[in-house]
Amino acid sequence: MTAQIIDGKAFAATVREKVAGHVARLKEEHGITPGLAVVLVGEDPASQVYVRSKGKQTVETGMNSYEHKLDASTPEDELLALIDKLNNDPAVHGILVQLPLPGHLNEDLVINSIDPAKDVDGFHISNVGLLGTGQKSMVPCTPLGCLMMLREYHGSLSGMDAVVIGRSNIVGKPMAQLLLGDSCTVTIAHSRTKDLPEVVRRADIVVAAVGRPEMVPGEWIKEGATVIDVGINRIERDGKNVLVGDVDFPSCAERAGAITPVPGGVGPMTIACLLANTVTACCRANGLSEPEGLTA
Ligand code: GUN
Repeated sequence: MTAQIIDGKAFAATVREKVAGHVARLKEEHGITPGLAVVLVGEDPASQVYVRSKGKQTVETGMNSYEHKLDASTPEDELLALIDKLNNDPAVHGILVQLPLPGHLNEDLVINSIDPAKDVDGFHISNVGLLGTGQKSMVPCTPLGCLMMLREYHGSLSGMDAVVIGRSNIVGKPMAQLLLGDSCTVTIAHSRTKDLPEVVRRADIVVAAVGRPEMVPGEWIKEGATVIDVGINRIERDGKNVLVGDVDFPSCAERAGAITPVPGGVGPMTIACLLANTVTACCRANGLSEPEGLTA
């Protein structure tokens, strides 16, 4: 079998279009412009690229973008004071603190100081708990993007065997919760999992989120399975810098029924879902009905 390529870039464009449509309606019918505040502490080059991209796409979809760039040595109380200000600013509907933070800052404390209703990353413990108990929450952007692609491709996921490789708070754990919410039988595999190849071979859906370049070979993939590759790994090959995922794309594409490429798969969906979460947060804050198809 040669896999169908799940085009995340094209799908993200349709999500952004939907977001822009909802934003236009919020402005026209209610005089409200959704606003997203992004906080960057320090000068991590990858984080700077992400933050720039987030700001640009926020503005392109008609929303207000508020960027706060703080020095790497910013004391924790200063960062917490800024978050408090954003929590109380009615023009700000979503707050994102770019991770990782410099070592002297307590990430858990900082994330949990964000108003859960404005936590468009879905990392606050309240949102984690709400997602885990099947209640309305803010859902982390990368897993939400993966879920949207899986639903688009399969329709219903009910009864499917899903294996999530990786147990991070940002991707692995919320991904497993979302798949469970869609009635999959879910296994979370990780570095201590016994006989990982055998576990992966059972899966109708494989989500790879370990951050290890090309770790999953094609021979682990069940014929016809759907492979979602969350990895974005920069490696050197033939003297060139290239981006590869957590799965070996050529061999996995030979056995899978469908697969996301890297780049152009999950990556573009993450920011699209951040925009979607900002509109969702804005609608909820104003007691308006939520945008259809943009939430879990
Ligand atoms: N750093 C890498 N990915 C993310 C993300 O999804 N959200 C935040 N806040 N920081 C990140």
